[in-house]
Amino acid sequence: QVARTHEPRYDVTALKEELKMHRIQVLSKQFNLDSEAGQQVGVTLFPTAGSQAYDRPPLIKDRSDYERLHKWSIDDPAGFWAEIAKDFFWSKKWDDNHHTYNFDMRKGRIECNWFKGGKTNITYNCLDRWVASGHGNQLCFIWEGNDLGHERVMTYQQVLNDVCRVANWLRAQGVKKGDCVTIYLPMICELPIAMLACARIGAVHSVVFAGFSADALAQRIQDCKSKLLFTSSAVNRGPKRVDLKHIVDDAISIAERNGYKGVKRVLVYEKSALPREQTPWVAGRDVWWRDEIPNRPEFCSPEWMDAEDPLFMLYTSGSTGQPKGVLHTTGGYMVQTGTANKYVFDLRPGDVYWCTADCGWITGHTFLTYGPLLNGASCVLFGSTPAYPDPGRCWNMIEKYKVRVFYTAPTLLRSLMQFGDKWVTAHDRSSLRILGTVGEPINPHAWNWFNEVVGEKRCPIVDTWWQTETGAAMITPLPYAWATKPGSATLPFFGVQPVILNDKGEELQGACEGILAIKKPWPSIMRTVYGDHERFEKTYFSAFKGYYFTGDGCRRDEDGYYWITGRVDDVINVSGHRVGTAEVESALTSHPQCAEAAVIGTPHNIKGEAVYAYVTMLSESDCTPAMKKELVEIVKRQIGSFAIPDCIHWAPGLPKTRSGKIMRRILRKIATGAYDELGDTSTLAEPGVVDTLISMKGK
Ligand code: WTA
Repeated sequence: QVARTHEPRYDVTALKEELKMHRIQVLSKQFNLDSEAGQQVGVTLFPTAGSQAYDRPPLIKDRSDYERLHKWSIDDPAGFWAEIAKDFFWSKKWDDNHHTYNFDMRKGRIECNWFKGGKTNITYNCLDRWVASGHGNQLCFIWEGNDLGHERVMTYQQVLNDVCRVANWLRAQGVKKGDCVTIYLPMICELPIAMLACARIGAVHSVVFAGFSADALAQRIQDCKSKLLFTSSAVNRGPKRVDLKHIVDDAISIAERNGYKGVKRVLVYEKSALPREQTPWVAGRDVWWRDEIPNRPEFCSPEWMDAEDPLFMLYTSGSTGQPKGVLHTTGGYMVQTGTANKYVFDLRPGDVYWCTADCGWITGHTFLTYGPLLNGASCVLFGSTPAYPDPGRCWNMIEKYKVRVFYTAPTLLRSLMQFGDKWVTAHDRSSLRILGTVGEPINPHAWNWFNEVVGEKRCPIVDTWWQTETGAAMITPLPYAWATKPGSATLPFFGVQPVILNDKGEELQGACEGILAIKKPWPSIMRTVYGDHERFEKTYFSAFKGYYFTGDGCRRDEDGYYWITGRVDDVINVSGHRVGTAEVESALTSHPQCAEAAVIGTPHNIKGEAVYAYVTMLSESDCTPAMKKELVEIVKRQIGSFAIPDCIHWAPGLPKTRSGKIMRRILRKIATGAYDELGDTSTLAEPGVVDTLISMKGK
């Protein structure tokens, strides 16, 4: 039993004064949604056919309003972001003598200092300030689980209290500022709560998507040397149960076998999918959330963090086999994430906002946890799959919770489109104002369906381009401010200066197509690859000196709109999940009978891209259907189900140049059957492999 806290509770009056001093807007007016309904001043039209007036003046009125601000943000980034940063709470203001912007991409060595000398805590900005300004009863999370009727709501006050309880528990375990904590939880309120609890005390969270396998989890625990892990007993996903605790136990054993024995504590949230008695258990190491958390003190003083102190890391796939721990810091990430969420979704406190991402990916960090909470929104959290138990689930939730902003991935739209419009139109969607997509290029067919069927042509679609590394949306429409075109992310966000380069690294002008790079640093840019700064500089800043290299191809049209054409490196995008082809290849070649593998992405109607693997076995007699199953299993075990190849193509040989480089361009053409577009194959070491590969297709 833990003693009740003696920490002072809030002195609301004093805090309000403090908040005012820091220019936090007085929110009460904005929270009162009723009084807003009558304000129809200055409404701009959503510029597509059949649009209706927006129900309130958008934050950015039109393109010239945007252009003025964008120009300021580029000409004077320090001044611009300093002005924006004043809308956040800092326990100590940044040092005015220091430029808030100090980051030189040309020096070779990357050094960032945004808001240097400033101190803040992001959870204070996400939670305390709303509670302190009288909005503790505002809904923070509206959660719906796997099964119908499984619902829960939490207010800002309740979330703050739970975050504090978990933070106090973490402190009691000896977790300190700078320590890494791994979170492997399904989409329940406790997932963002655990993230925020880490941030409360300055621990660096590393969320691992709960679809990753034990091997992948082990690698991620080991790399950041976590001593502590969050998980749940199990979770139901659609009709299936996933035994998360079991996977965690396996992962810890794998890490131990690899020499990492550091995990001392596992905090387990009990889900009804798997009750206590049936959950595998390691006495002395594992503890239950329900036994440990509820009795902890409900206030925990925030750790005041330096602007450049790490906030979290998130592993993502790159061109090589090892995933990268992308590290984000406190001040810059907070300011840009809050600002992006505010303008991209025209978000105001009290708005019901639903981002369908899982917290295991960057979108779930920026646009489901930190961004919307920084803006006082009421967030829908969804713990199931979109077509379960039927394809009307999402639209039903939009009706039920009167969702205003719906932000999702093209793959979800494509998967629901196939069931027909009736599932959508059966539900009232009149609450919707803004629709958004992220994660992969959206095909015009899906865009049009989103616009016409879901949004009834009244809601602008913000197609947001960004990356784990960029922290927040980089190229994106601002709703109601300018016309959109299906498939284009349109224009750069404030502070973002994209350029299109040719392969010599020269900037192209006007309408053009090439490689997307970014010219100036922005506050939420990642600061390093955890434990490997050299890799950070090599991956992002060495390809084209003086630019951040995105890895994406891009086209710019006559209106200056940007169109992302997809990755130019060896990363593929499967259902909006980033998969490194090298990771899949290394899983396949770990099979003792496998000699070599080459993985590419092929177009897929629903997933966007599918994993397509060319595999060379040691012996031809191994090329059997049973072996294909084994190879699929190995990918599932080492990475996770989402990375499983849709097709395994036996390859007696691979098309290689004389220097041994695999020509993936040719592999892509063979996979899609575009045999007359193979191009010049004379440079291959063995041109004959092409015909052999074609003859092996479908075998
Ligand atoms: C792709 C997800 C086209 C792109 C936030 C990028 C997109 C990669 C879009 C990053 C978009 C993301 N249109 N492509 N709107 N958004 N991408 O790190 O290839 O999981 O480089 O971050 O997704 O994926 P990540």
